[in-house]
Amino acid sequence: MKERSKHEQKLLDKASKYLPGGSLGNLTFSGKHAMVIERAKGSRVWDFSGNEYVDYLLGSGPMVLGHANKRINNAIATYLDRGSSYFVENEPAILLAEELCEAIPCADKVRYATSGTEATFNCLRIARAYKKRDKILKFEGGYHGMHDYAVQSLYPGSRRTVAESISGNTVDLPDYPTPIPDVPGIPKETTDSVLIAPFNDLETTAEIIHKYRNELAAVIVEPMQRIIPPKAGFLEGLRKITEENDILLIFDEVVTGFRLAYGGAQEYYGVIPDLMATAKIAGGGTPLSMIAGREDIMDLYNASSGEQDYVLQVGTFAANPVSCVAALETIHQMREPGVYEQMFATGNRLRKTLADLLSNAEIPHQIIGEDVLFDVFFTDRTISNYRDTLFAANETFEKENRSKWNTTLLENGVLKGGNKMYIGYCHNQDDIEHTVQAFKKAIEVVSS
Ligand SMILES: Cc1ncc(COP(=O)(O)O)c(C=O)c1O
Repeated sequence: MKERSKHEQKLLDKASKYLPGGSLGNLTFSGKHAMVIERAKGSRVWDFSGNEYVDYLLGSGPMVLGHANKRINNAIATYLDRGSSYFVENEPAILLAEELCEAIPCADKVRYATSGTEATFNCLRIARAYKKRDKILKFEGGYHGMHDYAVQSLYPGSRRTVAESISGNTVDLPDYPTPIPDVPGIPKETTDSVLIAPFNDLETTAEIIHKYRNELAAVIVEPMQRIIPPKAGFLEGLRKITEENDILLIFDEVVTGFRLAYGGAQEYYGVIPDLMATAKIAGGGTPLSMIAGREDIMDLYNASSGEQDYVLQVGTFAANPVSCVAALETIHQMREPGVYEQMFATGNRLRKTLADLLSNAEIPHQIIGEDVLFDVFFTDRTISNYRDTLFAANETFEKENRSKWNTTLLENGVLKGGNKMYIGYCHNQDDIEHTVQAFKKAIEVVSS
């Protein structure tokens, strides 16, 4: 890595002075790896010291078509002459709603918000209003944003040292379905309205659903939880149990929407929920998210229905026309021939190459995920839910090498999140070759 420039150091000093922990709260690197991003183009980002990185963070997922995409930028620039915010129906939002309903299997109607957090929050509220019940069920380790219902049992156990909460194959956590709030400041009543189940464990989930069916409004699930794919039959089973018990099924497709397939995880895995939340790619790389679903549920948002059950849902920047223009241009490009095939082929190649390199170096490993979103775990242990990741994190090799792996990749020009690599249509042959070289360096470091 290059020596830090004076300008970047000044910015970092100001960050320390004016931001809590010098951080925006998202991904922050510390010490010699601290950086401020100067610009991004295509699959690459540059920091203010002139370091260039192949970007597998992709803005935490949305930028699959690459940064500063010319067609998206032109569409935005052209639209800006017509203004940027009206708080009244606008053309791009209506046209986008039509495209979303055509693309997404469960979507009869759509409402907009500005973040994935708001979208999942709104899904839960409308589900409770529709079913007239208060409880919701989420999965341990499942991420649905930052609202009070979402930060429940997101990473239980891992805030204490992992070793403290684990001995052998047991973990010191309350039994399902008791939630643990992940942050302070959440009213107890909210925590009490959340039930927790283990992802990919249909039997335990079914027992909880059956026991609480008279209080439960909805089950919310990331169809692929973080990077853990659903086991064969898990989503189908969830669909069946929720239907049998008259409970709504919500897919959080903030990550998977337009990524696993044009119709998202519901198309990819072939299971249709009642409601879904999406954002990231669907928002065209801007602050835009959607709540979509069955007409009879979504009609609770209809102010003119005269129904007592009407659910108010507004937002100053919800359905912002500039964001909707970016989203329209993004999904138009996503459905051009070959886009998904190329993304999957790129990811598959990187994944296979990484697996071969690790096998040759006799490093225990598994590469978990789908070809467009995955990462390595340095363990032979089967990973099918959050607790498996906790046990894996406690294994010596993973514990000693996780952060070395990520920082060595960073030092060799590869930017990624802690436990994720997002593959985009923007990644090309050069990027793959560069990344494979960085993998080789990181393998040298973790092998020694
Ligand atoms: C599955 C999932 N749901 C919800 C969210 C929250 O989205 P946002 O950060 O836009 O609030 C995220 C964010 O990464 C996510 O991955």
